[in-house]
Amino acid sequence: MSKLWGGRFTKQTNHLVEEYTASINFDKALAEEDIQGSLAHVTMLGKCGILPAEDVETIKEGLITVLHKIRAGEVEFSVSDEDIHMNIEKNLIETIGPVGGKLHTGRSRNDQVATDMHLYLRERVVGFVGMLHALQEALIGQAKDNLDTIVPGYTHLQRAQPILFAHHLMAYVSMFQRDAERLMDSYKRINVLPLGAGALAGTTFPIDRHFVAEQLGFDGVYENSLDAVSDRDFIVEFLAAASLIMTHLSRLSEELVLWSSTEFGFVELDDAFCTGSSIMPQKKNPDVPELVRGKTGRVYGNLIGLLTVLKSLPLAYNKDMQEDKEGMFDTVATLEGALQLFAPMIATMKVNKDRMRQAVNQDFSNATDIADFLVGEGLPFRQAHEVIGKTVLYCIQNGKYLLDLTIDEFKQFSPLFDDRIYAVLQPEAVVNARNVYGGTASNQVAEAISRSEKLLGQTEQWIENRG
Ligand code: ARG
Repeated sequence: MSKLWGGRFTKQTNHLVEEYTASINFDKALAEEDIQGSLAHVTMLGKCGILPAEDVETIKEGLITVLHKIRAGEVEFSVSDEDIHMNIEKNLIETIGPVGGKLHTGRSRNDQVATDMHLYLRERVVGFVGMLHALQEALIGQAKDNLDTIVPGYTHLQRAQPILFAHHLMAYVSMFQRDAERLMDSYKRINVLPLGAGALAGTTFPIDRHFVAEQLGFDGVYENSLDAVSDRDFIVEFLAAASLIMTHLSRLSEELVLWSSTEFGFVELDDAFCTGSSIMPQKKNPDVPELVRGKTGRVYGNLIGLLTVLKSLPLAYNKDMQEDKEGMFDTVATLEGALQLFAPMIATMKVNKDRMRQAVNQDFSNATDIADFLVGEGLPFRQAHEVIGKTVLYCIQNGKYLLDLTIDEFKQFSPLFDDRIYAVLQPEAVVNARNVYGGTASNQVAEAISRSEKLLGQTEQWIENRG
């Protein structure tokens, strides 16, 4: 059989042109969605009296046969049929004869491909919300086990103030919560049907777009036919959401790499999630977080790539838009790979509480708290800051930490010091003094955990409603 659009042509397509313009090598990933959309379309053609019932039945059976053949790997896709849509249509016609040629009535590849992409991304987004949920649960599990684990909190990667390790982990739970909410919000714009827009202007056939939307589980249809075939915002939104997820994963990755170094020794990743060196027998490398950190770049690249494709693109469909796919598929695969590994890697991570405690005892991260003590005694904060700065300098010069100083040594710097400061300086006291909503005090962190768990319950409900 020749080209589906061959009528107007007098020459064969140059084979390099075929190779260059074909998308079948990557859009074959849309086969399931393409057939799902076609089944709804042809059902609607029957319901609206555009095709006789027996043709509709034949085409539907044919589409199911083609689907099974594709699943069984029995369909050989061909570059000369350009893309998944024409490969499937051609195969359908080969399977059931010329009646297969009626499927494309009232439809264009332009609204067809857009529909496929909406169907594809819709399902993936629900999956990613579920994977984020699993990661949040793993982080919360570790947080619960570490409600009494104190660790230095850092700014500028310098020890700043002691915090609960649980509090640190819960920061990531908040980030992934925003990520999940972004995806759930984007779902509203993904779950809209473009089909029925035709090539760009609608169709002369008396179709029922809302019926197709209902069949496919879309919440609505595109308002404007030009917009329906030209819009790729929903993919940009997904790529942007994915970029932020990777940003968050890369920050956590960097911390895991640091924490599992001998220098920190705060955590140990499970053997099952690490790899070795081909030359140095002692090595246990955190390859997974390193690679997640590294793969963040390609996801950003895919976002910028698609934005650039769309920039200045005139309405309506242009072939440029075929470039929307590989970046999306690559992002889906990259994100899936990272999220799938992260939840079990976090859940099995060993936390070295003693090492963290040692780090807290051997630093000055309680300095703010004695400054605050002096403020409580009536000294203006700026003066208290100066006094403690001098006290810390004295400690450094004498190889001591604040808790090692005698009360007489303290009094050299301010007469306002008294014995109460030893209690104030204890790491537990320092942590629990930050008893504000969102702070690191243990009761605040416990409440943050239960609020997060409630949000996770809402996420579960959201997923279930779309399952
Ligand atoms: N393979 C094409 C794409 O992905 C399908 C739409 C083609 N439409 C057209 N008029 N050439 O964009």
